[in-house]
This record gives sequence, structure tokens and C-alpha cells, in this order.
Amino acid sequence: MTGGRLRLGVLVSGRGSNLQALIDAATDPGFPAEVALVLSNKATAPALDRAARAGVPTVTLAAKGFADKAAYEQAMNAALEAAGVQLVCLAGFMRLLGPTFVEHWRDRLINIHPSLLPAFPGLDTHARALAAGVRFHGCTVHYVRLEMDSGPILVQAAVPVHPGDSADSLGDRVLAMEHRAYPLAVRLIAEGRVRIDGDLARIEPGLDACVPAAALNPAG
Ligand code: GRF
Repeated sequence: MTGGRLRLGVLVSGRGSNLQALIDAATDPGFPAEVALVLSNKATAPALDRAARAGVPTVTLAAKGFADKAAYEQAMNAALEAAGVQLVCLAGFMRLLGPTFVEHWRDRLINIHPSLLPAFPGLDTHARALAAGVRFHGCTVHYVRLEMDSGPILVQAAVPVHPGDSADSLGDRVLAMEHRAYPLAVRLIAEGRVRIDGDLARIEPGLDACVPAAALNPAG
């Protein structure tokens, strides 16, 4: 652990493969961020095992233990702040977040979504992409705003839709890109290369709005 790396708080509810991608990226001492805390709303989330294996501290906070959503989100804020978290990464956190959380972490809160936003916000994105007959699908890392799956776009990665794809086969292709896009987005923020300009996230120097495939190369 080198000093000065951006401290991430990763929020999970389930499998945790995107958490794993961030943990793996941070094993490189040259990666400018590290996972400081994993917070789950589910005690049984496999993501918690991934954190434990990597020696990352975890907190489980179940919403039903709190009087209301605001009280729950205040407890989340307190846990993340106690761990010195500087950037919150949603990684399959399956609860809608309210203003107590979203406004507190404004411009310090990002999400990964399995579609090329603004297409297909919400759930079941792969099946919906197939039903719509799109030729390209993908993933988006974006800053979080109160409206679900909205906010300035940081990184996108596209994959082709193949004839005969199922939601699962398409989803696997997208997920492989998610695992590259999320560490890239964190790197760009940690390197101070992102400036929020209204509804847009400008990346300086070099990249803007649409990230070419070359930028997703881990060596890039
Ligand atoms: C990913 O598809 C992500 O895009 C979405 O939830 C899923 C989480 O998967 N927000 P995992 O728990 O990171 O494996």
C-alpha cells in the first residue's frame, strides 16, 4: 500500500466481479487508487468473500435495521467516512439511493451500468438490447445523479451483438468489458483528469466523451 492513493469505497449486493476487477487493478502499485472499504447491504453477498480474501475491510448494513431511508444512508455515509473513503464506486449495489447519500457524495460517486447509456437504463439490459435489435451493446461508467442511471458519462465500451446471442452470452461479453472500463474510469479520476462541466464529464488531456478501444488496453 503506497500513501497517496485514492481511497475507494465499493458498494455491493452480490457477485462482486467488478469489485474484483478494482481489487486486481490495485494490486499494481502504479494504480492510483485502492479499495479502502467494501460496504454491502446483504450479509450473504459473495462480494464480501472476495474482499476478505484480498484483506479489504468490510461493513454490512442491512436497510431494515434503520428507521427510514435517510437514517440508513446516514449510516452508510458515516461508515465510508470513517474509512477515509474519497470516491464511492457502486458495483452491483441493488438499492435505489436517495438524496441523503447521492447529494452527500455528489461528484464523488460513480456507477457501472451494463448498457450504453442513455439506452437501456434499469434492469434486464441484455435481453432488452436483444429485443430492440441493436447491433452494438456495452457498458457505461458514469457519475451518479438522483435520477436512476443518469449522470455525466465517464467511460463507455461497446461490444458487437452476434447472431444467435442469448442474454447470457451477450452479458458475458459486456461483463468482460466492464472489468476493464471500471478500473480505467477510476484511474482517470484518480489522476485528476476528469472535470465535470454541467452534464458532461470532460477528460483531459486526450480523451473525451467516447473512449477508443485503445484506451481500454490495460497497458494504455
Ligand atoms: C454488473 O453487470 C454491473 O454493470 C451492474 O450490476 C452487475 C454487478 O455485477 N450494475 P458484479 O456483482 O460486479 O459481478
